This record gives sequence, C-alpha cells and structure tokens, in this order.
Amino acid sequence: MSNRFEGRFAAVTGAASGNGRAIAEKLLADGATLAAIDLNPDALESVFGDRPEILQVQADVADQQSVKAGFEQIADAFGRLDILVNNAGIVKFGTFEELSQAEWDQVFAVNSTGPFLVSQAAYPLLRAGDADHTRAIVNITSVEAHIVISSSGHPQIHYNASKGALLQLTRALAVEAAAAGIRVNAVAPGFIETPFTAEALAKDEVRDWLLERTPLGRIGKPEDVANGVAFLASDEASWITGSTLFVDGGWTVY
Ligand SMILES: NC(=O)c1ccc[n+]([C@@H]2O[C@H](COP(=O)([O-])OP(=O)(O)OC[C@H]3O[C@@H](n4cnc5c(N)ncnc54)[C@H](O)[C@@H]3O)[C@@H](O)[C@H]2O)c1
Repeated sequence: MSNRFEGRFAAVTGAASGNGRAIAEKLLADGATLAAIDLNPDALESVFGDRPEILQVQADVADQQSVKAGFEQIADAFGRLDILVNNAGIVKFGTFEELSQAEWDQVFAVNSTGPFLVSQAAYPLLRAGDADHTRAIVNITSVEAHIVISSSGHPQIHYNASKGALLQLTRALAVEAAAAGIRVNAVAPGFIETPFTAEALAKDEVRDWLLERTPLGRIGKPEDVANGVAFLASDEASWITGSTLFVDGGWTVY
C-alpha cells in the first residue's frame, strides 16, 4: 500500500468481480479516486455499496450509447481521468466447426470493441488529466493473445482472436496517444482464480496440468494482476508504452 495515486482519478471496467475487483481495490488502496464500471449493477452495489466515495457506473462496454452515458457520469463527477483499466471481458468455449457468428461477435464486442469504445470515450478526460504525471491506459489481454492453450480442453478460437486484437489495439494506440502524454500498455494474465475460471479450475486434471506448466508452482491470484496494473499505471512506468507485462507465473517461458 502506498499513496502513489493520491489526487488521481481512475476508472476500471468489469470492476465488480475477479481481476477487476482486485484492480479497483489496489488503485483505491494506493490513493486513487475510483469509478467502478460494470454491466451488473447488483454486483457493483454488493461489492462497493457501503463506500459512497466510489462512483458506481453501470455500463455495457460493448454498447456505445451505454459507454457514452457512463463517461458523462464520470466527467460530471471527476472532470478528468488519469488512469483507465480496460478489464471487462468474457470467455466462451466452442470448437471452430460449431462456433456461430453470434458467439464470435459477442466475444469480440466485449473483449475487443469494448476497450476501443471505452478508451475513445475516456480519451478527452485522459487528455485533461494531471499533466504532472503520465496518464495511463492498461488493457487486460491474456497469455492467450500470444499462445493457445486449447489443449487444456477448452477450444476458444474467438477468445484467442479477440485478445490478439486487443494486443494490437494496445500497441497501435500507444503510438497515437504518446503525443498526448498517455501511455497504453497491457497486462497478460495466465490462469487466475476468479469466477471466470472457476469451472475449469474445479477439475483436478486441469489444475494439475496447469501447475505442471507453471514454473512458480501456483495458480495466479487477482492481486497478482492488480499489482502489475498498478505498476504500469504509475510514474515508475513513465517510459513504458506499447508493452505487455506477463503475469503468468512463468507459463509463457516454457
Ligand atoms: N481469470 C483468468 O484466468 C484470466 C486470464 C487471462 C485474462 N483474463 C481477463 O481478465 C479480465 C477479467 O476476468 P475475470 O476472470 O476477473 O472475469 P469475471 O467474470 O470474474 O469478471 C468479469 C467482470 O466483467 C463484467 N462484464 C462482463 N461483460 C461486461 C460488459 N459487456 N460491460 C461491462 N462489464 C462487463 C462482469 O459483470 C464481471 O463483473 C477479462 O478481460 C479476462 O479475459 C482473465
């Protein structure tokens, strides 16, 4: 815990569960003022309801009107933004031969188009952020933007492709946003214990298979992801943009 984000305004999508919740808690613990964005208003209320200082924003990152309305709420409350974390994402499984276009489109809408819409809506607020510090966008990609682990029994070509798109969005936007003093990086988590992976991790064979391939010998925690995000959002990373930080226990080294 530090006060490195004291006086700074942050927004996190998918903040009501798993990685997003841990990222929100880490930014808060380090002093940020937070907008917690999520599709699910009940989950937002149950996680953050007893803390009125946190701005709860119900929005669907895949819907431009919803995103616009959400960022109007943030603009009214904060007037500017210093940190944006595009964390909201969904996973679906399905073999290539059986995959419908509707499933493909849904995964892309949330995982790839969502960060585009949210970053675009946040951009004027980030430009207006605290010029004494670098402002930062951190996108949560996945090791699956880089490698394919369908051998764990879960084919997910649409998820892989959507995270690959987010990786290149990160790199391309890093170039375009640099002149505005905005850094854009990615955190690529390996397998992390969240509701997202609960079903897979409940199977001993999957857990054993993962542990065998993870040099650091444990499954990741949402706090591991949050610590990586906080570093990339901080001034300690002031000369880092367009990069990916792997938070995967060494998985991708193998
Ligand atoms: N858990 C892992 O092992 C793992 C690994 C690599 C990457 N990731 C990535 O981390 C991110 C978070 O995953 P998680 O494991 O915490 O998932 P999770 O399912 O626990 O939480 C996702 C949150 O996002 C919200 N959300 C979903 N769709 C949304 C939308 N359209 N608009 C706004 N909010 C929406 C959900 O309501 C939920 O609160 C995702 O981008 C995921 O791809 C997770």
